[in-house]
Amino acid sequence: MGIKKTLNLVDNNMAKVFAPWILRHPKYLLVFKKLVKSLKNSIELRNKAKEEGYLVPPFMILSITKQCNLHCAGCYAAAAGTLNIASSSQLKIDEWRCIIKEANDLGVFAYIIAGGEPFLFPGLLELSKEFSDRLFLIFTNGTALTENDYKILKKLKNTGVIVSLEGDREATDYRRGEGVYEKALDTLNRLNKIGVFNGISVTINGLNYEHWMNPQLIDSLIKKGVRIGFFLEYIPSKKDITSSIMLTEQEREMFRAKILEYRSNKRIYLIHSPGDEEYFGGCVSAGRGFAHVTPSGDLTPCPVSNIATHNLKTSSLEEGLKSKFFKIIRENEHLLETEGVPCALFAHREEVEELASYVGAYLTNNKKPLITIKQTRKAQKAI
Ligand SMILES: C[S@@+](CC[C@H](N)C(=O)[O-])C[C@H]1O[C@@H](n2cnc3c(N)ncnc32)[C@H](O)[C@@H]1O
Ligand code: SF4
Repeated sequence: MGIKKTLNLVDNNMAKVFAPWILRHPKYLLVFKKLVKSLKNSIELRNKAKEEGYLVPPFMILSITKQCNLHCAGCYAAAAGTLNIASSSQLKIDEWRCIIKEANDLGVFAYIIAGGEPFLFPGLLELSKEFSDRLFLIFTNGTALTENDYKILKKLKNTGVIVSLEGDREATDYRRGEGVYEKALDTLNRLNKIGVFNGISVTINGLNYEHWMNPQLIDSLIKKGVRIGFFLEYIPSKKDITSSIMLTEQEREMFRAKILEYRSNKRIYLIHSPGDEEYFGGCVSAGRGFAHVTPSGDLTPCPVSNIATHNLKTSSLEEGLKSKFFKIIRENEHLLETEGVPCALFAHREEVEELASYVGAYLTNNKKPLITIKQTRKAQKAI
């Protein structure tokens, strides 16, 4: 079956955007068949797990390092304590290898690499080189790629690089620091020049959403070669809730309509969170669509959550995915509803913490048991 027909089976938009791009970049043609074969195999494995009574997600998000060279305002990883864990507790490359190997055997197909700043993790690209039948998307601030990284990326056929931008120079430097826009754009240009699949990631908030509603901006990125865009609505931290810059309901509606319009008339594949989660019946964390591993190996429902019951240094991923904690999040369907904020677990934070405390959860930033004072009958019933 041809590329377009195969991609059409997954999603029409995917075929419309990626098929012409792949045809223009022959090195990806060669790996396409291999990836399709392993995608089919991973679907079979996931179906088998489902029959056995547990869920394996198609994606894993790996926060590969706590190291970061920037201090972006409102970074969820900083708020969750992911960037503050003890250096000695960080997973080594061999431990990541074991986690990816087990995940592959269970049926995970793709890895989103985040952090911290992934390009500060020594040996990062060795992982995607080694697991060449899996898809890797590396999210980066675009300031830390070395000449050697570009050299390796040029040869890799299963790895895309997603560069974070906030908007124009002013908006990006305001949140990410002076000079970051210039470096991020330079990184995008270099990736395009050497034919590496690339995209952008934007934290959509009340300060920048109007900017991204300008179609000319999208056109200029497409012209550069950008073919995928992640628009992640700003998730506030606990401390930030009153001064939040998250979208209002009205702004969210306007922005959603724009995304759907771009989807129908622009040659770029767009992912909008939480908007797209509606198609999947709510939040896709806790193994429904993905699960997350912190730099020290804690398995959390998503990167924004700092609650875990399993650490992959001492437990298998299978045990973590079968955990009571993940099960109660999935089975209490109301917890997966976003309730007008960008993150369902944030919307139900107190209830999630309460339920988690019943199943022996701990906080990933300090490894202390999660003990809530308020343990209600409602929560006891939900377990
Ligand atoms: C935590 S970063 C890690 C990778 C890399 N350091 C970077 O900045 O791209 C992953 C993505 O999450 C986005 N992000 C950070 N804080 C966020 C928040 N509070 N709400 C939504 N997205 C956020 C970032 O803009 C980035 O695109
Ligand atoms: S570069 Fe990424 S991980 Fe670092 S502070 Fe910014 S958003 Fe957070």
